[in-house]
Amino acid sequence: MVDLDVAEQRYHQLNSVLPEASIFYAVKANPGQPLIERLAQLGSSFDVASPAEIDRCLLAGVHPDRISYGNTIKKRRDIAYAASLGVRRYTVDSAPELLKVIDEAPHAEVCVRLLHNCGGADWPLSRKFGCEAPDVVRLLVMAAEAGMRPGISFHVGSQQRDLSAWDNTLERVAAICAEAESLGARVEFLNLGGGFPGTYEQATPSIDAYGAAVRDALAKWFPQGAPELMIEPGRYMVADAGVLRSEVVLVSRRSPEDEQRWVYIDCGKFHGLAETMDEAIRYNLRTPHDGTAVGPVALAGPTCDSADVLYEKKGYDLPLALEEGDMIDIMSAGAYTTTYSSVGFNGFAPLAEYFVSTKGVHGLHDGFDFDDELAVP
Ligand SMILES: Cc1ncc(COP(=O)(O)O)c(C=O)c1O
Repeated sequence: MVDLDVAEQRYHQLNSVLPEASIFYAVKANPGQPLIERLAQLGSSFDVASPAEIDRCLLAGVHPDRISYGNTIKKRRDIAYAASLGVRRYTVDSAPELLKVIDEAPHAEVCVRLLHNCGGADWPLSRKFGCEAPDVVRLLVMAAEAGMRPGISFHVGSQQRDLSAWDNTLERVAAICAEAESLGARVEFLNLGGGFPGTYEQATPSIDAYGAAVRDALAKWFPQGAPELMIEPGRYMVADAGVLRSEVVLVSRRSPEDEQRWVYIDCGKFHGLAETMDEAIRYNLRTPHDGTAVGPVALAGPTCDSADVLYEKKGYDLPLALEEGDMIDIMSAGAYTTTYSSVGFNGFAPLAEYFVSTKGVHGLHDGFDFDDELAVP
């Protein structure tokens, strides 16, 4: 269940700590139509990864100027489709991808993504994306020579808990800007990506501290003023707006002597909790027995697949009173859950999603009748 009012509050909070950066909500975090609509009403722009995400934004009445096609891996025909709808901003991290954009979306704005090692992030986005600084310069020059407005993007890694990540990266970005300008390619905009946190087991600084860290880094490395700024928050905007209610299917032990219980719930890695891979994202859990005696558990999903274990190695303690039929709420589960859910692995239905709001919910939704939704406990 996702509370749209919480997402709205997050939007305002981020705007207040980074007022100079335009917010491009990363639709991949949660592409729920009511959520896109609410953010669109607030004036948000959108970062998309595919034609389907573009369609969702347009359906919500978003002007194509407010859409950035941020995926660095795009089919040529998808670029052409986006361009035909009026989308003008594209991200690339290689010459072949830039050539596709030059062909299919001439006169677009091109953002070149800088490689980042994503140290300090619980869900790193390194290696697969971005190019090294000299290649960023080369692509910026290529884009400028093709008559495109060049920009630089980076992503410090999702759920980034190290505030110095922005300082380190902006130092590199400032050097790239100077080098590119000396070669005739003036960098017109900076995309500072995402990385702002949801509330999970491991503590993070406050959003004010994130804002201050980014503002300080910008002032330090761009003392004459930074180019136009944008950010692409996903997790921060919607994680804390969501809660995933699961049911305990079985509590058992591998052997009578085993201290660790196995708790199997009715959603797992294949039903929205993919970010528990390597136990990377550690959700806070709420049970009906909170406050009573606890003991170690392994927590697993319901499918016949041994990969469907959420937490086993790093230790989770849950109430000893926990039993079949109890509900466990997985907190801050509004981001990167529903769309990760398989369509029917082992015959289990994809994760259902309900949107609630004190303002009511209007518009299209994903297979759910909103007239009923406010009755959900
Ligand atoms: C290009 C891009 N922008 C923004 C985001 C959102 O990042 P976060 O959820 O950390 O805010 C992602 C996440 O994968 C991304 O790939």
